[in-house]
Amino acid sequence: MALWARGARGFSARAQPTGMEAWMAHMMRDMAMPAGANRRTNPYPRLTAAQMKFASEHFAAHCAVCHANNGDGRVMLGLNMYPHPPDLRAPGTQGKSDGALFYTIRNGIRMSGMPAWGDDTPKETWELVDFIRHLPRLTAAQLRRMRAYNPKTIFPEPLMMSH
Ligand code: HEC
Repeated sequence: MALWARGARGFSARAQPTGMEAWMAHMMRDMAMPAGANRRTNPYPRLTAAQMKFASEHFAAHCAVCHANNGDGRVMLGLNMYPHPPDLRAPGTQGKSDGALFYTIRNGIRMSGMPAWGDDTPKETWELVDFIRHLPRLTAAQLRRMRAYNPKTIFPEPLMMSH
């Protein structure tokens, strides 16, 4: 709808190529999500302390390289890719359903740097969804612990010290 409304006012894709590309990519992503995926509910809605620990380590080891331990995406790799990883703590992500986040993590996002993580067990993926929900309330102690699980070779330590 937005496309046609803009088109009617003579909106040119050339004027704002990145905005239009991002919009198209997101529309195609929504269309690629099968009906029902969005409405799936999390069978593990509350993490035990042990699950929370595991999920935070999992996120630090596999996701933080692009998303940062705190989820804001302000790490070298994330900042250098387009589209940037979004701030996972912000309403844009937090406003999506658990089912949508689950689907995105398992299937990745086409035409972007977000890989598919379909080899994890569904339980592990749901725990990551819970962890993403927890990101806005991450404690300093949790952040400190996560650093130990960041892949050191591609993760310059000084950059991570700010997170
Ligand atoms: C190689 C970089 C990279 C890695 C590693 C990565 N992501 Fe992403 N992720 C991205 C990018 C880039 C986007 C945004 C893509 C877009 O908007 O088109 C994204 C988007 C997402 C989104 C969608 C957010 C939203 O608002 O819709 C979720 C959820 C997510 N990632 C979770 C994860 C989790 C969990 C992991 C680890 C298992 C992970 N990502 C690993 C790059 C990465």
